[in-house]
Amino acid sequence: MRIYAIANQKGGVGKTVDTINLSAALAERGRRVLAVDLDPQGHLTDAIGATAAPAGGANLARALLGQWTGELGELVQQIDNGLFVVPTSDDMFLLEPQMYGRTGREYLLSNFLEPLHGVFDDVVIDCPPSLGALNDNGLAAARRRPPGDPIQGTIVIPVQAEDSSVKALRLFLRQMTTLQQGLKIQLEIAGLIVNMYDGRRGGIATSTLAAFQKHQLDVLAVIKDKKEVREAWREHTTVFAYAPESATAENFRALAMRLDPTLVPAVVS
Ligand SMILES: Nc1ncnc2c1ncn2[C@@H]1O[C@H](COP(=O)(O)OP(=O)(O)OP(=O)(O)O)[C@@H](O)[C@H]1O
Ligand SMILES: [Mg+2]
Repeated sequence: MRIYAIANQKGGVGKTVDTINLSAALAERGRRVLAVDLDPQGHLTDAIGATAAPAGGANLARALLGQWTGELGELVQQIDNGLFVVPTSDDMFLLEPQMYGRTGREYLLSNFLEPLHGVFDDVVIDCPPSLGALNDNGLAAARRRPPGDPIQGTIVIPVQAEDSSVKALRLFLRQMTTLQQGLKIQLEIAGLIVNMYDGRRGGIATSTLAAFQKHQLDVLAVIKDKKEVREAWREHTTVFAYAPESATAENFRALAMRLDPTLVPAVVS
């Protein structure tokens, strides 16, 4: 099982859009994919067309805190062929404060996901726009395990081609270093996704791309600002369901292949 954390503490950089459409791209290639809404805002739940879980009932927040133990099927909703989601609930807002003071609080999500090896091929985590215990849980779940471990993780960082995004990236990388040292874990960054790219912005766009490259991080994909993304979002569905032939769907197909070269490419008829 491969665990991808889609993370950046900066708000509005495209984390949720990337989570939804990377998940859909992996599912299209025959993988069983679980998208996890780790952001209390619940945008993933809404935009992918799922229903929020009941507060006080079977939901992720209570499962992570050990307040609910039941059948996985009660937590997971199916969206499409091979595409599943763990939705948000109002209890997600109470989760982070309840994590503090617990030993091993950074591993609650990891402990929840690891038994799903064999049930899902991929897990894609939509992390919240903050640097707290929730985000740390997303990153720790996507840590690199020892070679030979059937569960492996990697981190994908969505950014925008703007100066503020370059500054935010520096802060994020610092947080990752602190977490790695504190927990003695290894976090591997697969690379960046540049979202809402507008080449008409000329020098600003190209110079920020150059600034990202200075961090020695691969740019995995450049996703243009496209109406199909906004329209699919409004229709509560993936770009794959809404506009499967679009350039954006192609971008996400290429991204999935880049992240996982073992995927079987689509047959061109
Ligand atoms: N390539 C794109 N083209 C057009 N609109 C986009 C694109 N990517 C994202 N958006 C829009 O930008 C907004 C922010 O994107 P998104 O919610 O994915 O960012 P986020 O990083 O998850 O935000 P938050 O930090 O609030 O969780 C959304 O309304 C989304 O539909
Ligand atoms: Mg989001």
